[in-house]
Amino acid sequence: MAHEFKDIDPNAPAGAKLTNWFENRFPTAFDAYRVHMSEYYAPKNFNFWYIFGSLALLVLVIQIVTGIFLVMHYKPDAEKAFASVEYIMRDVPWGWLIRYMHSTGASAFFVVVYLHMFRGLLYGSYRKPRELVWIFGCAIFLVLMAEAFMGYLLPWGQMSYWGAQVIVNLFSAIPFIGPDLALLIRGDYVVGDATLNRFFSFHVIAVPLVLLGLVVAHLLALHDVGSNNPDGIEIKGPNAPKDAKGHPLDGIPFHPYYTVHDIFGVTVFLFLFSAVVFFAPEFGGYFLEYNNFIPADPLKTPSHIAPVWYFTPFYSMLRAITSEMMYVLIACVLLGAGFGVLKSRLPAAVKGVVAIVALGVIAMMLSIDAKFWGVLVMGGAVIILFALPWLDCSPVKSIRYRPSWHKYLYGIFVINFVILAYLGVQPPSPIGERVSQVGTLFYFGFFLLMPWWSRLGKTKPVPDRVTFKPH
Ligand code: HEM
Repeated sequence: MAHEFKDIDPNAPAGAKLTNWFENRFPTAFDAYRVHMSEYYAPKNFNFWYIFGSLALLVLVIQIVTGIFLVMHYKPDAEKAFASVEYIMRDVPWGWLIRYMHSTGASAFFVVVYLHMFRGLLYGSYRKPRELVWIFGCAIFLVLMAEAFMGYLLPWGQMSYWGAQVIVNLFSAIPFIGPDLALLIRGDYVVGDATLNRFFSFHVIAVPLVLLGLVVAHLLALHDVGSNNPDGIEIKGPNAPKDAKGHPLDGIPFHPYYTVHDIFGVTVFLFLFSAVVFFAPEFGGYFLEYNNFIPADPLKTPSHIAPVWYFTPFYSMLRAITSEMMYVLIACVLLGAGFGVLKSRLPAAVKGVVAIVALGVIAMMLSIDAKFWGVLVMGGAVIILFALPWLDCSPVKSIRYRPSWHKYLYGIFVINFVILAYLGVQPPSPIGERVSQVGTLFYFGFFLLMPWWSRLGKTKPVPDRVTFKPH
């Protein structure tokens, strides 16, 4: 439907006339500004945890802009890639800054996104009606991992090369299709020029496009249902208090209130980001691994290959699945199925299916190599996040009103995740292996048993209005 032309007083200031001229010719942009900024009401009790969405957007922009400049000088050719990165670092004016911003940006992205996801966990932001916001978020996380993995091959250092070799080889553990799939990903029998070319194409074009599309979907879905908040109260719900215009009394317009608030967060973030870029870009070998300053050598395997820190919790879970651990997993399947058949109130026919499926899975667990199950566990650790909205059955959303022991449980979850991350950077050791096995069981137990434990304990009364003290 065509928009109606809005007239303006001929004596209005020039600026107002210009705005009116644009609004009459591009009303969609003005409507979008109103819907998403000046008339988007966000809860007024946002706290520290609510800055990380905006910071993730900022880092996305940093990565795209610095990436564009890197591509101007980078050469996606196995013979030239390493030297072209060194050329950027030494000879291209400000090239070192652009490259360090991009490499630090990759780690900053994961720091910010992990904190952003943890906020979702704390306040039950994934619960109804925000399930899709969360699902788009989980898809973003998966795509971000693919983007970072492919980007890491591009400098063609020893870690780029051998890291890619190890991870792509994992796909060959998949029964039947694995070896062909690994060949398809590599484009060759070993990681080589063909792999570099396709990873470059995906890293620079395909994956960023998907990422941008998902971020837009994430934000549109969020603005349709409205933001959650630290109290987990629906400020736009049918019974929520509203003013005469229907605006929620517990909400404030995103612009100017949260734009100004976010500028503060952005400033603090940029201080920290600059400190790393200028004073510790390698960050003790965690952001840029030392071995990656050695050109890729297909004939010389480094003694210790570890992925970058943000992948290591999942890498630890992969390494935890040894053939010995398979017996523990079989016991878990038996226990779960036994509970379903003997204790649950499922109909007899469903119980029969559970028993048959469990026996089938156990038969496969006994016959397929542990390496495959390791890959499955590693992938499952990310995939399980998609199910979170349906695993959490607590009567309240926010941690503030849950039984106090939930806080300790979340604390243990975080410590466990950090320990897994630490073990993933360390060379394998017998003690590390045991600890990572316990950690993997805890990680999955936390999610798979959530429908049970999240209902336990006494919740605190949830207030009608958000907790807010003017300051
Ligand atoms: C490129 C990555 C991402 C960007 C740019 C992004 C951006 C945003 C922004 C700007 C917001 C609103 C402000 C805020 O609540 O912090 C938001 C909210 C949210 N995001 Fe993300 N996000 C990203 C990744 C993720 C991931 C990986 C997840 C979860 C797996 C996620 C889950 C959520 C949820 C549940 C909300 C609603 C929070 C609430 O209302 O309490 N996001 N996101």
